[in-house]
Amino acid sequence: MATYKLLLLPGDGIGPEVMAGVQTVLAALAETGLAHFETEADLVGGCAIDAHGKPLSDATLAKADAADAILLGAVGGPKWNGVAYEIRPEAGLLRLRKDLGLFANLRPAICYPALADASALKRELVEGLDIMIVRELTGGVYFGEPKEITTLPDGSKRAVDTQVYTTAEIERIAHVAFDLAAKRSGRVASAEKHNVMKSGVLWKEVVTEVHARHHAGIELEHVLADNCAMQLVRRPKQFDVLVTDNLFGDVLSDVAAMLTGSLGMLPSASLGAVDARGTRKALYEPVHGSAPDIAGQDKANPIAMIGSLAMCLRYSFGLGEAADLVDGAITAALAGGARTADIAGEGSKVLGTRAMAETIAAELRTRAA
Ligand SMILES: NC(=O)c1ccc[n+]([C@@H]2O[C@H](COP(=O)([O-])OP(=O)(O)OC[C@H]3O[C@@H](n4cnc5c(N)ncnc54)[C@H](O)[C@@H]3O)[C@@H](O)[C@H]2O)c1
Repeated sequence: MATYKLLLLPGDGIGPEVMAGVQTVLAALAETGLAHFETEADLVGGCAIDAHGKPLSDATLAKADAADAILLGAVGGPKWNGVAYEIRPEAGLLRLRKDLGLFANLRPAICYPALADASALKRELVEGLDIMIVRELTGGVYFGEPKEITTLPDGSKRAVDTQVYTTAEIERIAHVAFDLAAKRSGRVASAEKHNVMKSGVLWKEVVTEVHARHHAGIELEHVLADNCAMQLVRRPKQFDVLVTDNLFGDVLSDVAAMLTGSLGMLPSASLGAVDARGTRKALYEPVHGSAPDIAGQDKANPIAMIGSLAMCLRYSFGLGEAADLVDGAITAALAGGARTADIAGEGSKVLGTRAMAETIAAELRTRAA
């Protein structure tokens, strides 16, 4: 059995608690003989500021660069609210994404049958929902220059952010979306605002061209980002793979998140370009933050973190069988009534973080036997 190297960056708040859940599941996976991982842990975010004076040390970045894949918990918390903007906890995460070239953010929104009633929408609209949002992560308005606030002659201020995309940036994210769709239902929707934005015009043009040249067998639909937001809450199951830019992706993936019940359920992957060896840099993390309100109380839902491990098995190591086993164990645990507080309905027995992870690991062992 091959041994893979995983860098674990638990981070702050509930990060270490949900990461412990990953280790519980990794131990169960090793017992099945399907996958064995060598893990090393390091600091990122607030805990790294406390130890090194910055949220990501060069040594940690070097380890991240050398790892087969990275699993990250969450960063931030009130303790570090006062630190300088450049060294705030989130800057560690942004540096990891930027320096490792993690341009493709994959955010699945899956509605587990057992949780359909926890959604903000009616059960029939969300039951069986399985959308993959592909968000461009290293370009667009969050990074474009100029990005500044200047003072005008009359003393008032003017703020500028710049939305900028190149052909190459759009091409590579479009390929990721079409490749994913080929393994799913064969449908891609691309969201932009070509009616009012030049970057939207180019986005639509390039996606259309990549589709015609390389992925003509996939069904492609263009949708305006504002209409897309509306469609997501009106009839979400019409979408399969949804590709969009950094800003719209930020908003649309949060909308999709609410369809599934709780932040504690949502995993994500951030992938880099495929290199000459056929591998790619990758970071897997839950969508949620460090949840300081429940940190250290064994209350956090570890499913988003464990689901991120499943994505890691699938996308970094091609371990589809092991990934299916983890996903299946999560579904089975939920179907069996296991609930953390964030997804508990009336009368359900509430499990803590550790007990939820152990229930999932037990389901995994049973299903692998
Ligand atoms: N990627 C990241 O590391 C990341 C993302 C978002 C926010 N943050 C940081 O996290 C801190 C808190 O931010 P926030 O409160 O806006 O967002 P949050 O996601 O941490 O929490 C929002 C709400 O959801 C709940 N929640 C989140 N994850 C949960 C889980 N796994 N199980 C059960 N409940 C869960 C929290 O208790 C809270 O009530 C801030 O410092 C913020 O900057 C980090």
